[in-house]
Amino acid sequence: RILILDFGSQYSQLIARRVREAGVYCELHPWDLDDETVRAFAPSGVILSGGPQSAHAQATARVSSAIFELGAPVLGICYGMQTMAAQLGGEVAASQQREYGYAQVRARGHSRLLRDIEDHASPEGYGLLDVWMSHGDRVEALPPGFSVIAETDNAPLAGIADEARGFYGVQFHPEVTHTRQGQRIIERFCHEICGCGRLWTPSNIIEEAVHAVREQTGDDEVLLGLSGGVDSSVVAALLHRAIGDRLTCIFVDNGLLRQGEGDQVMATFARHMGVRVKRVDAETQFLDRLAGIEDPEEKRKRIGNTFIEVFEAEAAMLPGVKWLAQGTIYPDVIESAGAKTGQAKVIKSHHNVGGLPERMRLGLVEPLRELFKDEVRKIGIELGLPAEMVYRHPFPGPGLGVRILGEVRKEYADTLRRADHIFIEELRTAELYDQVSQAFAVFLPVRSVGVVGDNRCYEHVIALRAVETIDFMTARWAAHLPYPFLDQVSRRIVNEVPRVSRVVYDITGKPPGTIEWE
Ligand code: XMP
Repeated sequence: RILILDFGSQYSQLIARRVREAGVYCELHPWDLDDETVRAFAPSGVILSGGPQSAHAQATARVSSAIFELGAPVLGICYGMQTMAAQLGGEVAASQQREYGYAQVRARGHSRLLRDIEDHASPEGYGLLDVWMSHGDRVEALPPGFSVIAETDNAPLAGIADEARGFYGVQFHPEVTHTRQGQRIIERFCHEICGCGRLWTPSNIIEEAVHAVREQTGDDEVLLGLSGGVDSSVVAALLHRAIGDRLTCIFVDNGLLRQGEGDQVMATFARHMGVRVKRVDAETQFLDRLAGIEDPEEKRKRIGNTFIEVFEAEAAMLPGVKWLAQGTIYPDVIESAGAKTGQAKVIKSHHNVGGLPERMRLGLVEPLRELFKDEVRKIGIELGLPAEMVYRHPFPGPGLGVRILGEVRKEYADTLRRADHIFIEELRTAELYDQVSQAFAVFLPVRSVGVVGDNRCYEHVIALRAVETIDFMTARWAAHLPYPFLDQVSRRIVNEVPRVSRVVYDITGKPPGTIEWE
């Protein structure tokens, strides 16, 4: 297992993902993690991330000297290398030439870290690596015991190593994909230098999680709010494997789901996998609570609160339950730890059920807490969930409630469901579904004039939204959907969905727009 100490680089999470991709378990912690926790973690190797600080200034972030006394290899990346150099007796200074973006590094062939890893061979016998750099400071003088393993024109000490102690530093970022050999360098460090095997595989992850859940819950009953989203679905499949019938899932149909979604959830879990799922039809309750409400925040609140009411009422009928399972994943854990605002732990749930476990006096079971989204998907497949479910676009907790602008009415939801279904079906048929990060239809309660057959009509508008994004924090509207495809979707919607006379395509990025319309 690898310990990653985070100095605040925007790429720190990426380092963790790369190590996991190498099949090695790792955890990301703040740089000032206390020595006791470090020793208890007993890492096979440590990676020091980059960060925005300056390593030559006084009073900057430094790792505990205990890190260098563990007897485990250490890889410093960018700031991580600079602080390692400074802490071990080298010198770091502001560089005249800042380097950002692509650079070519000349790698000296002798180092264990970089040996035989190259993009091009140079006539002088160097290995040349195309890498991604982003730094202002640089190492000026080697600490005792270190030698140079890579250089660029601007940074004569772009890579350093103390082979005897297994300490390595690179000024560039092996964790980003722009560094083409980056994954190999990370694998070299994890596998050969730290001696970690490729043990972090989907089947091992499942086995460990199953074991941990059994340990945690003993013979107790566990409750899960199943939404049909990826995370709660994988939790359901995993817990079912771990504790079988001691898991009860509650699936609340709030009337704001996509077409056929409720039936699909029941078919997959209840019929196909034999999971005990209770479906609660709460459409009327939700729609009643939303009647006449136009403000988006108020709508969200009411949907969240109604969910809690319904869920609690159902849970009250299961008095033996001791645990509530949630689909919290590792990025949620890192974010809430990084937020450092003193606020309570952010409980991730599409249902906004934060606070529920305390109120219901239930313990929390979070079997995905250590996993990244791509790992959650892989174990979902391994557990036998359909790929269509596991690779589905995200769907917001408030569901169609935030895609019907203004007041939510049943007839609007029905119209939107049909239009949305056509859009998604066409995306799948055209094999475009996996080429966008999220796509859906939005219902606009305004009306516009149209001609259908020979008759003038005056009906509602459907907007199509499709975006490309990595993290959903920023997004671009999907500019690659072909016009003939959009034409086909538009025709089908106007022809097949009553009370729609116009279809538009949203060409707003995020920012300034959000992905959802409300
Ligand atoms: P926005 O609209 O903020 O959305 O750009 C970013 C991503 O988050 C999803 N989203 C939600 N997910 N509960 C959720 O679980 C919510 O209330 C919610 N609102 C937005 C949205 O679908 C997009 O993927």
